[in-house]
Amino acid sequence: MNFIEMMNWRYSVKHFNSEKVSQDKIDIILEAIRLAPTSMGLQAMKVFLIEDEILLKEIGEKSCIQPQIKECSHLILLAAREDLTDEELNEFIKRNMDSRNVSEESLSGSKSMALSVQKKDKSEFLDWSMRQTYIVLGIALAAAASEKVDATPMKGFNAQAMDEIMNLKGKGLASSLLIALGYRDEENDPYANSPKVRKAKDEFIEVK
Ligand SMILES: Cc1cc2nc3c(=O)[nH]c(=O)nc-3n(C[C@H](O)[C@H](O)[C@H](O)COP(=O)(O)O)c2cc1C
Repeated sequence: MNFIEMMNWRYSVKHFNSEKVSQDKIDIILEAIRLAPTSMGLQAMKVFLIEDEILLKEIGEKSCIQPQIKECSHLILLAAREDLTDEELNEFIKRNMDSRNVSEESLSGSKSMALSVQKKDKSEFLDWSMRQTYIVLGIALAAAASEKVDATPMKGFNAQAMDEIMNLKGKGLASSLLIALGYRDEENDPYANSPKVRKAKDEFIEVK
């Protein structure tokens, strides 16, 4: 499948069958998430892989009643950072020094950019970090499709309840997006064979 075939193959699954996604494929999707670009490479988020059935049940009852939660093989939660602590900022600089074998002085530009992000007020920072999770979402969906794994991006959940279930309170994290993974239930998912609905190319893209 080329990339466009892959994008046509994928859709946001409403019903999954009971087949489990192999650990190899999950690892590839998680690695794609880790490699996703983020602003300055700050990766101001935490990624949770949820496979525990009791936890999935609790999420299905208290945060998201959509059937994908009950039926998926694995669930990924992208939780955005509420702030950038000094510790994280120092780790960011150290990671750059170690990975690229460069001096701290050579990273002064990156450090001042990161400091300007750190100074944002809380709601502005969270807005910024949540937007970073959407980039990761796009990469995860493409990676899943390339592995022929079905994935549903999900915002339709109670984020506060999710924060409580996942014990995020006081950890500087806020639930942003869910990605349900599994395999489409062709028989019970009305969307399984329905055509894509998108704006026409000329309407959507303007060449200047
Ligand atoms: C940020 C975001 C949040 C979404 N939330 C949900 C959701 O909560 N439940 C759901 O079934 N689909 C959800 N979707 C799927 C969209 O409805 C779907 O991507 C869109 O209708 C296009 O269809 P397709 O993905 O099947 O091609 C979401 C998509 C995005 C990008």
